[in-house]
Amino acid sequence: MIEVVTIDGPSGSGKSTASKLIAKKLGYNYLDTGAMYRAFALIVLEKGFEYNKSKYVKLLRNFEVEFKTRNNNQRVYCEERDITEAIRMPDVSMWASTLSKEKEVRDRMFVLQRKIGENGKIVAEGRDMGTVVFKDAFAKFFLNASLEVRAERRWKELKEKGINQSLQDVINDIQKRDEQDTHRDIAPLKPAEDALIIDTSELTLDEVVSKIYENVIQKLKVWKS
Ligand code: DC
Repeated sequence: MIEVVTIDGPSGSGKSTASKLIAKKLGYNYLDTGAMYRAFALIVLEKGFEYNKSKYVKLLRNFEVEFKTRNNNQRVYCEERDITEAIRMPDVSMWASTLSKEKEVRDRMFVLQRKIGENGKIVAEGRDMGTVVFKDAFAKFFLNASLEVRAERRWKELKEKGINQSLQDVINDIQKRDEQDTHRDIAPLKPAEDALIIDTSELTLDEVVSKIYENVIQKLKVWKS
């Protein structure tokens, strides 16, 4: 077993905010694996590769992402460039989802993610953390919420970042990404058998965090005793 907490779920399920807070409470590092897929998608988009697999597979070999903390916020770097804001754009979200279907892409991310997690004490957030990358994690969670609630959360988040998309466009994007992420052949989005599933539609952030935190503490006690 490895000292990793996994939090998986679809877009807008509240996993990012909850994961950051849980990491802070536990004194663990926070690993945003969606940001890694987004970083790769941004690089591919900027190179204008569209869906040319042979070209982007070459890029993967040297692909690295770095997370750095600045003023208590985690920033994402790729090739020495701060891409924290750039990777949140809607077209990058869609490309990240499309590219994440490819085995070569997932294999590279697996290697990078295991390397970051090898010393434990991390909260890893994504789609396949509990099912594939950190199968050996001691505590696993799967967050979900209704499509309406998730779309509204995402719409607000984008608005705060100055990205103006209509609510209907956000609903359409989320539905398309859900469909791609859930139905891909490799590492589809689904709860691990041993994950605690939490529907966050009717819960406050505090309630979600408390539920996860209490469960983690319980599991730590059992594991370490
Ligand atoms: O969590 P996010 O919205 O930042 O993730 C962007 C895309 O990356 C998501 O639609 C699918 C992909 N992804 C993945 O396939 N596996 C992960 N562990 C994390 C993200």
